[in-house]
Amino acid sequence: MPLQMTGAPGDHALLQLPWEVPLEEWPENRLVPLPRGISRHVVRFARISGRIYAIKEVGERLARHEYRMLRDLSRHDVPAVEAVAVVTGRTDASGEPLDSALITEHLQFSLPYRAVFSGTLRPDTMTRLLDALAVLLVRLHLAGFYWGDCSLSNTLFRRDAGAFAAYLVDAETGELHPLISEGQRAHDIDVAHVNIFGELLDLQAGELLHPSVDPMETAEEICRRYHALWAELTQADVVDELEWHQIDARIRRLNDLGFDVAEMLIRRKVGTGRLLVRPKVVDAGHHQRRLLRLTGLDVEENQARRLLNELDAYRAANRLRHENEEIVAHRWLAEVFQPTVQAVPPPLRGKLEPAQLFHEILDHRWFQSEAAGTDIGLEKATRSYIDRVLIHKPDERSLLAPELEA
Ligand SMILES: Nc1ncnc2c1ncn2[C@@H]1O[C@H](COP(=O)(O)OP(=O)(O)OP(=O)(O)O)[C@@H](O)[C@H]1O
Ligand SMILES: [Mg+2]
Repeated sequence: MPLQMTGAPGDHALLQLPWEVPLEEWPENRLVPLPRGISRHVVRFARISGRIYAIKEVGERLARHEYRMLRDLSRHDVPAVEAVAVVTGRTDASGEPLDSALITEHLQFSLPYRAVFSGTLRPDTMTRLLDALAVLLVRLHLAGFYWGDCSLSNTLFRRDAGAFAAYLVDAETGELHPLISEGQRAHDIDVAHVNIFGELLDLQAGELLHPSVDPMETAEEICRRYHALWAELTQADVVDELEWHQIDARIRRLNDLGFDVAEMLIRRKVGTGRLLVRPKVVDAGHHQRRLLRLTGLDVEENQARRLLNELDAYRAANRLRHENEEIVAHRWLAEVFQPTVQAVPPPLRGKLEPAQLFHEILDHRWFQSEAAGTDIGLEKATRSYIDRVLIHKPDERSLLAPELEA
């Protein structure tokens, strides 16, 4: 069988990778050394025309299955790595068959959990990291996806303002159903519990865990958070007709978690003044989509909310209330966002992703202005942030490629 690449590979140069060589033995000059999680299969990162791809060597059946799962998840708007193609029919120089390969896009600015934990992670930062994993699992389940192998090493984390956003990276064991069953859900949570407990023990053994963190308690906590969120999203409330503020509070809680309540299903209980209320369409990423539409910036949910708030403030400060929203967004990008990001000297730009950078500058401005007793302004805050904070940060961008800086 000849070499075959199936999928949507945007780049033909992918075909020129040394597919006749086992991935383990690929020449260094083809590869990019990036942090990655523990895995059974060989996974390597390759750079082609300025893009970075993750390549996983795996049997054909699994490669195809995972490819399909990742594609489906992307259609459901669940955060997961993007599948690019499956390479089959590989043979080595002597004609011996080689395993297939799954190509995904490398998730920029993502961190495997070991990298997040290296350097002592404060317990409350860890809580937010685990929260992100709970939210991911809920989103997967809402989409009808049974993961089968939820763990820290099968997840990638990206900073999202003060929190983290979690992405699924390994869909090998996944199944997509129209609706997930209670049994599947329970099983997924059990697996997550066991895996996370093990992974935390492992970190503890490597002295990477904060001494105050208890692996068992933490693993349990993440499951509790999952259950709380699931209940918040799916359970029906019974309220008196006069208790609308309760529903309101609930909607606000959901919004805070990044979910939208597009519709409410409300039924009157026959013969009573009581209503059965269930949030009907739940979806995450409202702010993200709005910001993307307005500015083309594709960022995480909390970052998007923050940027939209800034946009609103800009609008008010510049008396643009009656101006078309798209025009305001365009001006704000050109006059505020871009100049701020570009004020950072190029060698420091790889340290944080632009939306996160902007967010941290805003925080810095707030603190400095509080200390000064007056607003120090964005420009001054940017300079101060670069000199006092950014310089000391580790590089978060995993693209170590100088050619990409150009
Ligand atoms: N698209 C990607 N972007 C960034 N990192 C990636 C990507 N794909 C894989 N990785 C890294 O490679 C690691 C291993 O990938 P993956 O979990 O799919 O391998 P696996 O062998 O199937 O794992 P397991 O042992 O759980 O079966 C991930 O933890 C992640 O750090
Ligand atoms: Mg894995």
